Amino acid sequence: MRSHYCGALGTTNIDETVTLCGWVDRRRDHGGVIFLDLRDREGIVQVVFDPDTQEHFERADRVRSEYVLQITGRVRARGEGSTNPAMATGEIEVLGKKLEILNKAETPPFQLDEHTAVGEDVRLHYRYMDLRRPEMQQKLILRSKITKQVRNFLDDEGFLDIETPILTRATPEGARDYLVPSRTHPGQFFALPQSPQLFKQLLMVSGFDRYYQIARCFRDEDLRADRQPEFTQIDIETAFLNEEEIMAITERMIRGVFKSVLDVELPAFPHMTYAEAMDRYGSDKPDLRIDLELVSVDDLMQQVDFKVFRGPADDEKGRVAALKVPGGASISRKVIDGYTKYVSIYGARGLAWIKVNDIDAGVEGLQSPILKFMPEEIVAQLMQRVEAANGDIIFFGADTAHVVNEALGALRIKVAQDQGLVADHWAPLWVVDFPMFEQDGKGGWSPLHHPFTSPACSAEELAANPGAALSRAYDMVVNGTELGGGSIRIHEAEMQKVVFGLLGIDDEEAEEKFGFLLKALQYGAPPHGGLAFGLDRLVMLITGATSIRDVIAFPKTQSAACVMTDAPGDVSSEQLRELNIRLRQTVTPE
Ligand code: AMO
Ligand code: AMP
Repeated sequence: MRSHYCGALGTTNIDETVTLCGWVDRRRDHGGVIFLDLRDREGIVQVVFDPDTQEHFERADRVRSEYVLQITGRVRARGEGSTNPAMATGEIEVLGKKLEILNKAETPPFQLDEHTAVGEDVRLHYRYMDLRRPEMQQKLILRSKITKQVRNFLDDEGFLDIETPILTRATPEGARDYLVPSRTHPGQFFALPQSPQLFKQLLMVSGFDRYYQIARCFRDEDLRADRQPEFTQIDIETAFLNEEEIMAITERMIRGVFKSVLDVELPAFPHMTYAEAMDRYGSDKPDLRIDLELVSVDDLMQQVDFKVFRGPADDEKGRVAALKVPGGASISRKVIDGYTKYVSIYGARGLAWIKVNDIDAGVEGLQSPILKFMPEEIVAQLMQRVEAANGDIIFFGADTAHVVNEALGALRIKVAQDQGLVADHWAPLWVVDFPMFEQDGKGGWSPLHHPFTSPACSAEELAANPGAALSRAYDMVVNGTELGGGSIRIHEAEMQKVVFGLLGIDDEEAEEKFGFLLKALQYGAPPHGGLAFGLDRLVMLITGATSIRDVIAFPKTQSAACVMTDAPGDVSSEQLRELNIRLRQTVTPE
């Protein structure tokens, strides 16, 4: 039906007769001449109808926004003074000869221009219209370019694309499962995969050696700006590669994506231990574009009487840390109060601060609500420790190390954003040497990664001191976003049982839930490992999107619903009966 895309036309097409298909972006009437901006996925071109072509001119006069048209015409250069440098096709226009209305359209529910101010609810309700906006089209086109590049790279490296089931058993990745009732097995449920983790490990046992899949994952968890209940992973697993080799190969993949899609050469990826990341940035996904660091001052605060600081400084699990912000002395009390409220979200019970007005004047040159609690000598050492200079503000957190890291880690980012201290470059890194476990708050252990991650020590050492054991896991972080994570896996049944045991999964439960895995590990499982990237997060980073919903064609809302199809929805009582399900209370539809 068409010879060219609207947006693909240029001066090289001058004098050609072209046939275009697309939507009316705008229609203007100018002294007996009708201008139509016709839009398709590649862009917009201006079409002019003059009264010479009477029948078609009259049709052009009848069209409205978002009508679907087929237009045949001749490409010509725009006259002197009427070119439009803001438009990719701005040097030409099409002189329309023929116009067919392929379909009419109701008045659009919102203006489809770039800066549409309409609420997201309306956009999601009419998602098919929202996706017509060039901005959204560009994002999804880029997403497709990224997956193409990923597939090409992995294919060239000998990876096989293998699908794994969607109807399956639970795969623990730390979220709730989405369950699907079985009709043929009354009272039993499938779980949708939180990731293909166990299947990809089994594929290694089968000898496929290098696997990948662009895989849909399902997690029923609290949603944030970069989380969706169903999302996509670039899922990778290999046999006979160690962690250095896996990081190297996947780093090349991400480099290739940035190069081909953005023409960006990523800088070197430093490897940073989890302990160092927490110590210096209060986060296991540090944003290295921000040149602010947490500095421990526990030893100094052990020498003061101020209980708020002394307590955590003396406590093995406590931490007192300082965060210096150059130029921050001008931050107002009101803004500091706002920051105090902000860190309280992370459990901080206060936010102490010192402003440095004149460093050479000793305590006289400082301004702070806590100076009165500290000997001058300690204050001087403190200033030295953080290398304070005139104009700085220094914030302090004192609590358990966990709370201080979370609070000051988050504050570091917030203040940097507010003060314009986020540098404009790409800052990737690998975070390595994660602990195997963290305390689950109920006296037990929970895995930092997932229960199939190999420890870096022997089973005996692990059992003797689970809290100190490191794992063979690694995360790729770019600009403060955790893009992907993975690990070398446990490939021996005995080790897997020890880890299950430490996680409070006894033999019976292990057999019931993971018997197939434990068995498979006894039939010649090779050493193996892999990782998974969050594709949606990768596309967010590359497109600069601030919401994950902007890079997914049909996303869910914050409450995990689809307002367009109205899912989840009611089902008939027959369907429920077939599934052997009775609802506890009758839910009346709204
Ligand atoms: P993990 O749980 O770290 O590891 O997930 C890997 C990556 O997937 C992305 N991601 C998400 N993206 C959007 N919405 C979500 N709700 C969401 N949850 C995770 C993140 C994350 O880094 N099986 C392991 C990987 C492995 O060990 O190979 C796994 O799923 O970018
Ligand atoms: P107070 O003596 O409780 O008024 O606290 C004095 C200063 O210390 C105030 O600026 C508080 O915000 C701050 N502060 C209180 N608790 C903490 C804490 N746990 N960590 C950091 N600062 C705190």
